[in-house]
Amino acid sequence: MKNPRLLLAARGETVDRPPVWFMRQAGRYQARYRALRQKYTLLDIVRQPELAAMVTLWPVEELGVDGAILFSDIVVPLAPMGISVDIREGVGPVVDPPVRTAAYLEKLRPLEPEEDLPYVLQTVSLLAKELEVPLIGFAGGPFTLASYLVEGGPSRSFLRLKTLMYREEALYRRLMDLLTESIARHLLAQIAHGAHLVQLFDSWVGTLSPEDYRLYVAPYSRAIAGAVAAAGAPLIHFGVGTSSLLEEMAAAGGDVLGIDWREPLGRARRRLGETVLQGNLDPALLLAEKPLIQARVRALLEETGGQRHIFNLGHGVLPQTPPQALSWVVEEVHRWTV
Ligand code: CP3
Repeated sequence: MKNPRLLLAARGETVDRPPVWFMRQAGRYQARYRALRQKYTLLDIVRQPELAAMVTLWPVEELGVDGAILFSDIVVPLAPMGISVDIREGVGPVVDPPVRTAAYLEKLRPLEPEEDLPYVLQTVSLLAKELEVPLIGFAGGPFTLASYLVEGGPSRSFLRLKTLMYREEALYRRLMDLLTESIARHLLAQIAHGAHLVQLFDSWVGTLSPEDYRLYVAPYSRAIAGAVAAAGAPLIHFGVGTSSLLEEMAAAGGDVLGIDWREPLGRARRRLGETVLQGNLDPALLLAEKPLIQARVRALLEETGGQRHIFNLGHGVLPQTPPQALSWVVEEVHRWTV
């Protein structure tokens, strides 16, 4: 591979400069993505390997980032498991009917990636052949996927999921076991088809206290991290609003911890020692003018010294982002030498 910088950094090796990529680097901020979405739904794109591979490659070509992230979504594995899910414009994933009873859970089955998602694995194979940078595979974390299943869609308070967790623990744990098995299989299949590293998006665990994270999430994340480690690929473990959970998430597993903008990376480093950190500009900062963006990129690099650091935003690129702003960030990171 021509540029393995991301893979080296994820393994904790010394690099000439930190790698940079962006969560949601393929998406609505791109005019050509919006144009493609006039013709196809997101799931249409995911189901056509040529299209999904093309969309994956766009930001790599346009921005010169050091990694490509497979174009798919965290909810893609749910339909073949027996869950009725749709991605609604401007809303997010909607699950109808939601999964709230033992009877419904009985009808679900674990994912068989090769049979259920051949198009996703074909996209991975196509990309692995073409890319000059590492390919990042991914899956949603079990708690984050469970939130869509049980809430029926996006949620602020996660009260239905927490009610299940506190009042019907056995049912909660059966659902988490099913998701954990499916997620692990999905990640291993992506690695087997050529993904060089994988990210676990446990986006919504920040709603939990450290104690509840340890009790209700960590065992499942640990199982997934163990399976990925055995396959030999680095794992990036990411969540949003997780300042109070960093030690717990790092202990649950992963080679890299993805951190949002609320936690200064210098402080994260003091808390976590040797753990490689990924992040963490506020995605909204990219709505600022060029000098402020450049200054904040440099400040962030000075905070980490550009080592044991994968440069990224603290969450996904916003649809309102001017594409130029992302280029300024890449330029500024590329200018940095350690
Ligand atoms: O470029 C990439 O990052 C790769 C593709 C990718 C998508 N979703 C495509 C997508 C990835 C890695 C995801 C992960 C994902 N999906 C997460 C975890 C990351 C996070 O944001 O915390 C979550 C929670 C989801 C669920 C989901 N899918 C949401 C909340 C939305 C947004 C709804 C909206 O319209 O604002 C989606 C839709 C989605 N997935 C889009 C994209 C590019 C939006 C654009 C579209 O509909 O075409």
